[in-house]
Amino acid sequence: MTAPTGTLDPAQALKARHRAMWASGDYPTLAREVIPELGSVLVGACAPGPGERVLDVAAGSGNAAIPAAMTGANVVACDLTPELFAAGQEQAAQRGVEVQWREADAEALPFADEEFDVVLSCVGVMFAPYHQASADELLRVCRPGGRIGLISWTPTGFIGQMFATMKPYVPTPPPGAQPPPLWGDEHHVRTLFADRVSDVVTRRQTVTVDRFATPEAFRDYFKAYYGPTIAAYRGIAEQPARIATLDTELADLARRNDRGDTTTVLDWEYQLLTARKNHR
Ligand SMILES: C[S@@+](CC[C@H](N)C(=O)[O-])C[C@H]1O[C@@H](n2cnc3c(N)ncnc32)[C@H](O)[C@@H]1O
Repeated sequence: MTAPTGTLDPAQALKARHRAMWASGDYPTLAREVIPELGSVLVGACAPGPGERVLDVAAGSGNAAIPAAMTGANVVACDLTPELFAAGQEQAAQRGVEVQWREADAEALPFADEEFDVVLSCVGVMFAPYHQASADELLRVCRPGGRIGLISWTPTGFIGQMFATMKPYVPTPPPGAQPPPLWGDEHHVRTLFADRVSDVVTRRQTVTVDRFATPEAFRDYFKAYYGPTIAAYRGIAEQPARIATLDTELADLARRNDRGDTTTVLDWEYQLLTARKNHR
């Protein structure tokens, strides 16, 4: 049960809203249908192996946790939104692997210091609002010499542009809360981790999304399945003119980026970052 947001301090209330947002729509279906390759890309870059302890932070329905478990690693998938775990459990069972699922805020992980060999997050930790707190937690639970791996949407890529498009339609975040796509900026992440990591490697890559017939079909899918888009529309539910404008803006975003001939084909840019936690 989620507490009524009126009884919470502003940071807790924000988290409760985030949890409700990610539980809305159908994020597990979106992850499975639209961006399944990202989890495997991240696991390939971090290369966990049999018996290694892996933590997937903001794991959702296990886009990265499940391929990590398929390497023989012991995997814990944690997320603010436990409503997403049932779909993950089903997918893990279908692939014949075991994953432990744990409700957790990335900014206050319920794990011991240095508990994991690999700590990863696939377009996940970027959505926790206080970036330094999350970065400190990723490093705290990783053993010295262990690996960190992150996939984050970039500020200028398609999903970064989508968040910029929706920004005027969502409430102003509380003081100190930072925008998710900043995690897709190499300099920002290097500053968060500072001198506590080495062997930092970043790459800008794209995932090609070719499952939408038209720009409008992309928009309507996101309106139905993707929590942040659903939340943006909920905030303007009584304002038909603003709904119409946002409808046009999201379809136009897809149209501008469409490189398909007969269907809509989009390349969504992300940053893949790997690093090793320093020994003290
Ligand atoms: C875009 S989804 C990514 C899920 C999954 N990693 C994937 O690749 O499909 C973002 C996830 O971040 C989670 N999340 C948002 N804020 C969080 C927080 N403060 N702590 C932990 N998870 C959080 C959401 O519940 C959601 O599952």
